[in-house]
Amino acid sequence: MILHFLFRIILLSWSMMALAQAQSSGNCSSQCGLVDIQYPFGIEPGCSVDNWFAVDCNSSKPFLRSINLELLEISILTNTMRVNHPIYNSCQNESTSQFVNLDTTPFEFSSGSSNRFTGVSCSKLASISTNNSFISGCFSMCNENATNLGVNSSCQSGINCCQTTISSPLKNFNVSVEAPQSSIISNGGRQQDCNYAFLVDQNWFGNNLTNLQDLQRMTHVPLYFWE
Ligand SMILES: *[C@@H]1O[C@H](CO)[C@@H](O)[C@H](O)[C@H]1NC(C)=O
Ligand SMILES: *[C@@H]1O[C@H](CO)[C@@H](O)[C@H](O)[C@H]1NC(C)=O
Ligand SMILES: *[C@@H]1O[C@H](CO)[C@@H](O)[C@H](O)[C@H]1NC(C)=O
Ligand SMILES: *[C@@H]1O[C@H](CO)[C@@H](O)[C@H](O)[C@H]1NC(C)=O
Ligand SMILES: *[C@@H]1O[C@H](CO)[C@@H](O)[C@H](O)[C@H]1NC(C)=O
Ligand SMILES: *[C@@H]1O[C@H](CO)[C@@H](O)[C@H](O)[C@H]1NC(C)=O
Ligand SMILES: *[C@@H]1O[C@H](CO)[C@@H](O)[C@H](O)[C@H]1NC(C)=O
Ligand SMILES: *[C@@H]1O[C@H](CO)[C@@H](O)[C@H](O)[C@H]1NC(C)=O
Repeated sequence: MILHFLFRIILLSWSMMALAQAQSSGNCSSQCGLVDIQYPFGIEPGCSVDNWFAVDCNSSKPFLRSINLELLEISILTNTMRVNHPIYNSCQNESTSQFVNLDTTPFEFSSGSSNRFTGVSCSKLASISTNNSFISGCFSMCNENATNLGVNSSCQSGINCCQTTISSPLKNFNVSVEAPQSSIISNGGRQQDCNYAFLVDQNWFGNNLTNLQDLQRMTHVPLYFWE
């Protein structure tokens, strides 16, 4: 995918020159709110390389129209983009899993160096699969007295939260949180707790998310595409 993306950029560099002219004439916006919008992304008709990269600027927030996600950052130099992506939250959705599929798109989720798979639960197993095959999972031990998350978090010791890395970029994933099959591990009767599972920008997670209460209010977290 990274190569594919690079290839597109190279292939299109001649048309970029033509486009640079259009852009320098000031007809293509270079910003939406605080986010720089660079080619191959573009806001006005004709400013993006194709419809996949078309951006809507709504109330100073850029949205990638093709997959309906808010864009937080585009970095052409490192071939990455950061988006706000929906999380799996058992209290907001009756479904027991979340399936996301980018198979038909030019986009894919970054792996280990930037994103981390994270589960937040009380004595449950969070797992992630791709192409219908299990790739990673982790177990969160339960401690009602610990509420730190992310910043100074107990994630590393697996208390209320756990993380694993993803070894290769993903075009699709299915995450779920389930009690282990042999329920010998007590969750202290806290079955009503919300369970969460998500891929997340690890830098944001470790520096910006401080506690469980903040997570409870969230429907989306930042994550990286490509790398
Ligand atoms: C930019 O917009 C102006 C006014 O809308 C138009 O006259 C001009 O042809 C456009 N330039 C390009 C390069 O599309
Ligand atoms: C723009 O954002 C507002 C508020 O966030 C939303 O109600 C509206 O539907 C959006 N419009 C488009 C065209 O996406
Ligand atoms: C609930 O999850 C399903 C399956 O992942 C998804 O299609 C749906 O949009 C979600 N609903 C809400 C309100 O998030
Ligand atoms: C998933 O399937 C696609 C298409 O068959 C393949 O390119 C990709 O490598 C697979 N991903 C993993 C992690 O196995
Ligand atoms: C939580 O704190 C209470 C009161 O300090 C204590 O009685 C209880 O054992 C603690 N629970 C755990 C799991 O540490
Ligand atoms: C994190 O730990 C550092 C050092 O122990 C402390 O100064 C800081 O206040 C803690 N931050 C939070 C949000 O608890
Ligand atoms: C996702 O995983 C859940 C739990 O393992 C499974 O029930 C569901 O069928 C899977 N969904 C898809 C679309 O593969
Ligand atoms: C996250 O934390 C970093 C480092 O403390 C800070 O620079 C950044 O502005 C924060 N981002 C958000 C979205 O709060």
